[in-house]
Amino acid sequence: MALNKELINDIITVTSKAAISCYEFIGKNKKKEADKAATDSMRNEINKLSINGEVVIGEGELDKAPMLYIGEKLGSGGNLKLDIAVDPVEGTNFVAKNLPGALSVISIAEKGNLFSAPETYMDKIAVSNKVPFEATDLDFSVEKNIKNLADSLNKNLTDVTACLLDRPRHKKIVEQLKKMNVKIKLISDGDVCGALMVTDDKYGVDIFLGIGGGPEGVLAASAIDAYKCKFQGRFIFDNDTDIERAKLMGIENLNKKYDLKEIIKGDSIFCATGITSGDLVDGINVKDSKYITQTLVTHKSSNTCKIVTREDTIKT
Ligand code: FBP
Repeated sequence: MALNKELINDIITVTSKAAISCYEFIGKNKKKEADKAATDSMRNEINKLSINGEVVIGEGELDKAPMLYIGEKLGSGGNLKLDIAVDPVEGTNFVAKNLPGALSVISIAEKGNLFSAPETYMDKIAVSNKVPFEATDLDFSVEKNIKNLADSLNKNLTDVTACLLDRPRHKKIVEQLKKMNVKIKLISDGDVCGALMVTDDKYGVDIFLGIGGGPEGVLAASAIDAYKCKFQGRFIFDNDTDIERAKLMGIENLNKKYDLKEIIKGDSIFCATGITSGDLVDGINVKDSKYITQTLVTHKSSNTCKIVTREDTIKT
């Protein structure tokens, strides 16, 4: 079953209002306050919708997060049963330091169709839909992935751009990329956006790879699905607590590599509203007593991938 197109506007409202709610914290070095404002707003707005939703990706698990925890029921009820993945502020450092790229993000799918990811890291790979499915794989070496990618895109290695989070854990990958003379785009945070940059040539990214948050991986995958690009992820469970949690969530094979179709099934709606301006969308702009926001929207069944601008009057 396809998700009703009217829901798109509802979800845009939710992410736009969440983004606006942390506007006052931009550049104020108040990560927690910004995240709380966006989380509270998101929860209030989703609860106004006539849906029967459940959080599958949220602000954490019940013991750690008082709002939007995994398993929390959302919506005012009805027949429409949905899985909801939220990241009220993706890039809390960006908001705190007034840096580009902070987003407020949601993805929804029908009940049972969106993977409930544990709060662990995930090894990820994302490539554009111009690259054949078999050309890249998490199990291939970095060299093999880059060579196959370059061959598929008919590019020289030196013209290939690989994007990854700037983290010490990626030292080896960066060394390998340097050896191959590939263009490296290191991002300080925000790997939902990092992964989404493979969806359009205008971003100049051919491959996104490396380790980031698992929940962010699932959120990115849901938009990447609408763009018909490739995403693979493998959770990293490297301590007893995470292993225990994974088992409680029903994950039996801890080393499993997940393809896109195992992370998100059926129809989906993804919305990412800019808090601060970044590669995907502009941040919140205040003009003529209005907040102007931009939201990247995807709706799989209607092949919608677009940017929607919205105006909200500032309440005095
Ligand atoms: P927050 O918005 O929760 O701070 O996450 C930002 C982020 O950069 C994500 O985009 C990314 O998946 C994750 O942090 C990486 O985690 P770490 O900073 O621990 O490497």
